[in-house]
Amino acid sequence: MREIVDRVGRITLENEQLFQRLIDGERRFRGLAKAVWKVQEEERRRLARDLHDGIGQTLVALRNQLERLARRAGENGDLAEGLRDSAELTRLALNDTRELSRLLRPPVLDDLGLSASLEWLARSIGERTGLEITLDCDLEDERLDPDIETLIFRVVQEALTNVVKHARSPTARVTLERSATDLRVRVADAGIGFDPSTAFSAQADGCGLRGIRDRLELFGGNMELHTGPREGCTLRLRVPYGQDRPARINLGA
Ligand SMILES: Nc1ncnc2c1ncn2[C@@H]1O[C@H](COP(=O)(O)OP(=O)(O)OP(=O)(O)O)[C@@H](O)[C@H]1O
Ligand SMILES: [Mg+2]
Repeated sequence: MREIVDRVGRITLENEQLFQRLIDGERRFRGLAKAVWKVQEEERRRLARDLHDGIGQTLVALRNQLERLARRAGENGDLAEGLRDSAELTRLALNDTRELSRLLRPPVLDDLGLSASLEWLARSIGERTGLEITLDCDLEDERLDPDIETLIFRVVQEALTNVVKHARSPTARVTLERSATDLRVRVADAGIGFDPSTAFSAQADGCGLRGIRDRLELFGGNMELHTGPREGCTLRLRVPYGQDRPARINLGA
């Protein structure tokens, strides 16, 4: 009898140790995944700056030079027109470069925070694609943890990109609510919808929705997808964010 009790005791202890190792492993994995994500964001920030300050500045100089030459060519019809066309093409390339730089990492996200950057995102997508986006944001000028601001910005960016790419909806609505314990985000469209069981299957082509789900899990959050053929699509996200629980990335975790 005593032997059995000892063995049960040993097995229980081993189970507890195994469980603890599992928890430690999971914590290390989360720490690593968050670190990779931070490096990726940092790289985007660097690329955005390089694009803006490097190619962007060169294009500004090129456009100015072409405009000067076009003015000098004055009455020389064909030459002046060719130079003006070239200046116009350079201006378009400059706009594309700036837009790309801002989409990679909008400076407004670092400078003014989530609410302002979501407003910029909605305006920018609306101007580019014609999608009419309504934004209701509880935050006003409040600044959150920078990692959480980036997380929510990226998630809304992907969700709105999906509306543009797939939904065939003229409108979308983004809502952000802050409670004492969490942040809740909702992105809804009135488009063609889809079969949600296909979104996360191994055969799914895209990785946007899966990426949203995985990133949210890293921060202890979750997402719900409400959709069906011809039912539109509503994405609901929740991220824990209370005064007693700042969701800061802890690389040492
Ligand atoms: N708002 C939406 N309306 C209609 N269909 C959608 C919507 N969002 C996603 N889908 C469908 O779900 C699929 C998976 O979306 P997901 O974002 O994961 O991939 P993707 O957009 O195709 O590619 P990626 O995001 O990797 O560029 C899409 O291919 C599309 O069929
Ligand atoms: Mg997508």
